Amino acid sequence: MTVTKKEGRYKRILTQLENLLKDKPNAIARMATITAVLHHKIDYFFWTGFYLLDKGELIVGPYQGSLACIKLKKNTGVCWAGINQGKTIIVPDVHQFPGHIACDSRSNSEIVVPLKEKTGKIIGVLDVDSKEQSSFDEIDALWLEKILGTMLNVEC
Ligand code: SME
Repeated sequence: MTVTKKEGRYKRILTQLENLLKDKPNAIARMATITAVLHHKIDYFFWTGFYLLDKGELIVGPYQGSLACIKLKKNTGVCWAGINQGKTIIVPDVHQFPGHIACDSRSNSEIVVPLKEKTGKIIGVLDVDSKEQSSFDEIDALWLEKILGTMLNVEC
């Protein structure tokens, strides 16, 4: 996909989500809607979902795609790296990422974006997997961060 086409698609998704989520404060409904729109609008999104911190554990939240791991082993894998480093992690080849947790062996690349409260506190991550290698780049990172910004006006 060209840069222009990818940016155009994300721009339209963000506008759609802003309209859908206006005056919809429920955090679970917002997360479910974000995963459904992203998963069905971007063809290389093979698994799209949230992992949320719950009493120090990272537990699966709303998602689209094949059956996922419910709890991720602490401080292991890409999602925990996103939480611990507090930044977006792009993994071109999951097989090269130390400790990567394979919930579905068909995944080959991955992006993890921290989900933050208004205060800046990290409360979870958005995780997206692709069946292809090197699917995610800085454009995905930028727009997924913007999309998660739509969560910030509600309590999670
Ligand atoms: N691969 C992730 C685990 C979650 S699945 O991709 C749905 C990780 O290493 O944290």
